[in-house]
Amino acid sequence: MSFVAVFIVFFFFAVSGRLEAVTLEVKEGNSTCIKAELSASLSITYLTSNSSKTVSVLLPDSALVDAANSSCGTNSSSPQLVALFGPGHGIGLSFSTNGSVYSVTELTLSYNLSDASLFPEAELSGVVALTNDSVEIRAPINTTYRCMSPTTIRVREDSVTFSNMRLEAYMPGNDLSPAESVCAADQTTTPATPTTAATTTTAAPAPTPPGTPVRGTYSVKNSNGTECLLAQMGLQLNVSYVSQSQNKTVQELFNLTPNLTSSSGSCGASRASLVLTQEPTLTLNFTFTMNTTSNKYHLSGIDLQANWSDTTAPFSASNTSLDFLRSTLGRSYMCNAEQTLQVVPTFALNTFRLQVQPFGVTTKQFATAEECQVDQDQMLIPIVVGAALAGLVLIVLIAYLIGRKRSHAGYQTF
Ligand SMILES: *[C@@H]1O[C@H](CO)[C@@H](O)[C@H](O)[C@H]1NC(C)=O
Ligand SMILES: *[C@@H]1O[C@H](CO)[C@@H](O)[C@H](O)[C@H]1NC(C)=O
Ligand SMILES: *[C@@H]1O[C@H](CO)[C@@H](O)[C@H](O)[C@H]1NC(C)=O
Ligand SMILES: *[C@@H]1O[C@H](CO)[C@@H](O)[C@H](O)[C@H]1NC(C)=O
Ligand SMILES: *[C@@H]1O[C@H](CO)[C@@H](O)[C@H](O)[C@H]1NC(C)=O
Ligand SMILES: *[C@@H]1O[C@H](CO)[C@@H](O)[C@H](O)[C@H]1NC(C)=O
Ligand SMILES: *[C@@H]1O[C@H](CO)[C@@H](O)[C@H](O)[C@H]1NC(C)=O
Ligand SMILES: *[C@@H]1O[C@H](CO)[C@@H](O)[C@H](O)[C@H]1NC(C)=O
Ligand SMILES: *[C@@H]1O[C@H](CO)[C@@H](O)[C@H](O)[C@H]1NC(C)=O
Ligand SMILES: *[C@@H]1O[C@H](CO)[C@@H](O)[C@H](O)[C@H]1NC(C)=O
Ligand SMILES: *[C@@H]1O[C@H](CO)[C@@H](O)[C@H](O)[C@H]1NC(C)=O
Ligand SMILES: *[C@@H]1O[C@H](CO)[C@@H](O)[C@H](O)[C@H]1NC(C)=O
Repeated sequence: MSFVAVFIVFFFFAVSGRLEAVTLEVKEGNSTCIKAELSASLSITYLTSNSSKTVSVLLPDSALVDAANSSCGTNSSSPQLVALFGPGHGIGLSFSTNGSVYSVTELTLSYNLSDASLFPEAELSGVVALTNDSVEIRAPINTTYRCMSPTTIRVREDSVTFSNMRLEAYMPGNDLSPAESVCAADQTTTPATPTTAATTTTAAPAPTPPGTPVRGTYSVKNSNGTECLLAQMGLQLNVSYVSQSQNKTVQELFNLTPNLTSSSGSCGASRASLVLTQEPTLTLNFTFTMNTTSNKYHLSGIDLQANWSDTTAPFSASNTSLDFLRSTLGRSYMCNAEQTLQVVPTFALNTFRLQVQPFGVTTKQFATAEECQVDQDQMLIPIVVGAALAGLVLIVLIAYLIGRKRSHAGYQTF
C-alpha cells in the first residue's frame, strides 16, 4: 500500500504543473547572456542486476549553474548553460544563433548512478551523460522563448520534461526580454492570448500586444512602519478610449511595470486601500471592504486615473460596488490563473498570479490562502488522473497477487 501512496504523491507532483521552478543564469562579468526560468522533470531508466527501473527526478530549486562548464560562448565555442544538483546530476543546454534566430542545439542529461538514494540497486556506477542534438527550441533573437505547456524531450531511453519555461540566450539586457516567442503548444491551449485586441477598429496601426505582465510585489505600511496589506500580482489594463491620433475609439492593453510602480494606501478594520502609482501616467486604487459580522472581505472598488498621451482627455474609470476576490479574515486570497475584473464597460483589469491580503496581516508573510475556483479546478485534473492511476495500480497489484495464488494452486489442478 505504501508503494501506491508514494506513487500517487510522485504522480501528483509530476503532472500537476506545480513543479519547483528553478531560475538559472549564466553571466560574463556583470552581464547576463543566458537566463532560464523553468521546471524540469527527468525520467531515467537504469539497470539493476535482474531488471530495469525507471525513476523520475525533479530538478530541485537548489540546482546551481555549473560555472566551470557554463559560458557565454566564444568564437569557437557555443554558449552553454549547465545546471547541477546532488552528487553529479544535471542538465545542460547549448545554444547557437544565425543572427536572427537562436536555438537549443543540444540537450545533455547526466546522472550519477552511484547515488543510491536516486538509483537503488543500480548495476552500474558513475556518471552517465547522454545527449540529444535535435531539440526543437528556437526563438527570434531579443525575444524570450516561452512554453508553459509540458514539453518532453527524449534523450536516448531517458527524457526531460520542461514546463513553465521562459528561456533566453544571447540576451540584449540582464533580464528576460519582454517580447515573447510563444511555443506552438501554448498557442493551441491558450487561444486567449491578446493577439487581436483591436478587432473593432479598421486598419489601425496594430498595437503590439504587451504579453503577460511582470508580477509585482506591493505592500502598505502602518503609521508605525509595519506591513498591514500585502499584494503580489501581475496587472494588465484593458481599456477602450477615444484616440486623438485616430479620432475614434480604440481598445488597448497596458501592463503595469512593477519597478516603475510605487504603492501606498491605508489600512483599517473594515476598509483598506492599495494605491499603485506608475509615474507619470497613472494611478490605480483598490478598495477592500470587510464585513465585520461575517468576517469576510472582498475587493469592493477600483479606481483608475490615467494620462495617456493619445487620450483626448485623462482617462478615468471608477466603480465602488464591485464584489471580487472574496476571502475570510485571517486568510489571503490567491488566484494563479488569469482573472478578468470588469470594472466599467470601458475598463477591465486582468490579473495574473495574484495573491492579496488586505486585512489581518501579522507578519511580512501571507496567511493561508483561499484559492479561486479556476485554480481549484485546475488542481482537480491531476488529482483525478492520479486517483484513476492509483486505482489502476491497485487493480494490477490485486490481479498479480491473485494470479500468483492461482499459479501456485495450478500445479494440482492442471
Ligand atoms: C560590475 O559592477 C560593479 C559594480 O556595479 C563595477 O564596480 C564593476 O566595474 C563592473 N564590472 C564590469 C566588468 O563591468
Ligand atoms: C531482483 O534483485 C533484488 C535484489 O538485488 C531482489 O530483492 C528482487 O527480489 C529480485 N527480483 C526478482 C524478480 O528476482
Ligand atoms: C557520484 O556519487 C557518489 C556517491 O554519492 C559520489 O561519491 C561521487 O563523488 C559522485 N560522482 C561525481 C562525479 O559527483
Ligand atoms: C536563421 O534561421 C531561421 C530559421 O532557422 C531562418 O528563418 C532565417 O532566415 C535564418 N536567418 C539567417 C540570417 O540566416
Ligand atoms: C537585439 O537588441 C540589441 C540591443 O537592444 C540590438 O543591438 C540588436 O541589434 C538586436 N538584434 C536584433 C536581431 O534585433
Ligand atoms: C479587452 O476587452 C475587450 C472588450 O471588453 C475584449 O473583447 C478583449 O478580449 C479584452 N482583451 C483582453 C486581453 O482581455
Ligand atoms: C503597529 O500598529 C498596529 C495598529 O496600528 C498595532 O496593531 C501593531 O501592534 C503595531 N506594531 C508594532 C510593532 O508596534
Ligand atoms: C473626428 O470624427 C468626427 C466624426 O466621427 C468628425 O466630426 C470630426 O471632425 C473628426 N475630428 C477630426 C479632428 O478629424
Ligand atoms: C525595469 O525592469 C525592466 C525589465 O524587467 C528593465 O528593462 C528596466 O531597466 C527596469 N527599469 C528600472 C527603472 O529599473
Ligand atoms: C493628469 O494630468 C493632469 C493635468 O495635466 C494632472 O492634473 C493630473 O494629476 C494627472 N493625473 C495623473 C494620474 O497623473
Ligand atoms: C455582512 O454579512 C452578514 C452575514 O453574511 C449579512 O447579513 C450582512 O448583510 C453583511 N453586511 C454587509 C454590509 O454586507
Ligand atoms: C460596477 O460593477 C457592478 C458589478 O460588477 C456592475 O453591476 C455595475 O454595472 C458597474 N457600474 C458601472 C458604472 O459600470
